Amino acid sequence: MERKQRLYINEVATRDGFQIEPNFVPTEDKVKLINRLSRTGLAMIEATSFTSPKAIPNLRDAAEVLQAIDRVAGVRYTALVPNLKGCERAIACKVDEINLVMSASETHNRANLRMSCEQSLAQFAEIVKAAAGVPVTINASISTTFGCPFDGSVAPERIEHLVRRYLELGIRAVTLCDTTGMADPVQVRALCEKMIATFPTVQFTTHFHNTRGMGLANVAASVEAGMRHFDASLGGLGGCPYAPGASGNICTEDTVHMLQRMGYDTGVDLDALLAVARGLPAIVGHDVPGQVAKAGKADRKYPKPEWLENGSQVAIASGR
Ligand code: COA
Ligand code: ZN
Repeated sequence: MERKQRLYINEVATRDGFQIEPNFVPTEDKVKLINRLSRTGLAMIEATSFTSPKAIPNLRDAAEVLQAIDRVAGVRYTALVPNLKGCERAIACKVDEINLVMSASETHNRANLRMSCEQSLAQFAEIVKAAAGVPVTINASISTTFGCPFDGSVAPERIEHLVRRYLELGIRAVTLCDTTGMADPVQVRALCEKMIATFPTVQFTTHFHNTRGMGLANVAASVEAGMRHFDASLGGLGGCPYAPGASGNICTEDTVHMLQRMGYDTGVDLDALLAVARGLPAIVGHDVPGQVAKAGKADRKYPKPEWLENGSQVAIASGR
């Protein structure tokens, strides 16, 4: 039997999701949620971010969260980091990976990080130096890869240029982020194919938001283009507080469900993940966009209508 292609899911709900929630999620709830997620077969969990507590007050408890969670074998724990100070805080908490962040577009970088893109790259260089000799891998995200809510479209050449700059710094893992759900599947397929062909030594991840309903179509396009690593957020929570109109990421359980149906191996126990997802509205205090947790999996079977079981004469007569 042909072996299924393995894909790797990075769960970002407690970072991308909780950063934009109207209310602070208590530290204890974050820890419990990460501990449950850690036992569902996810490859990686982006637990939090080491950002300024003034910029992202909801994640001001980053260190407490990372210190309190169980580190389950086989799961990698990562955190988003915007600058050298964030890197030092993350290393002190013994993360497995640091996810650096900057935007492809100048305006979003300034709105989000109060720096120019060149200043961000200079921070990255400092961070790479600070992390040398530390057992931590470095991934760098490119926000607004597929379009910027301020500056509009972003040229593929700009992304290629940034990946080259990352490589010069020694960074070999890159996440292409559709921060405000502007990407469409044709664009995604073309860019992903080009990036994989141009940079065969780079490990790429995609990060989609479902702001315009194109999220899962973009996952399908990127997996068919050869992508193997995907960010997703439980329940479809998420969004950048410094990107106007931002809304939720692609939903992890819906993504896993789709990829499994397409014949891929995500390593995730979908039933276990759905059980965790069904507890999410109680944690955040509102309904969440995820669909499979509500509808059930596609192989769900309902009982036949009683009138079909008990003879259909009456039903036919009444036009059913
Ligand atoms: N962690 C904790 N505190 C930090 C920090 C970090 N990584 N970086 C800076 N600070 C603190 C400074 O110590 C300083 O504190 P003080 O006012 O008590 O002296 C204050 O924040 C301002 O520092 P400064 O370097 O001037 O930062 P800034 O105000 O220019 O903000 C960032 C720059 C990058 C720190 C901030 O914009 C940020 O954290 N952005 C993250 C946005 C984000 O996560 N968006 C969503 C994900 S894409
Ligand atoms: Zn995001």
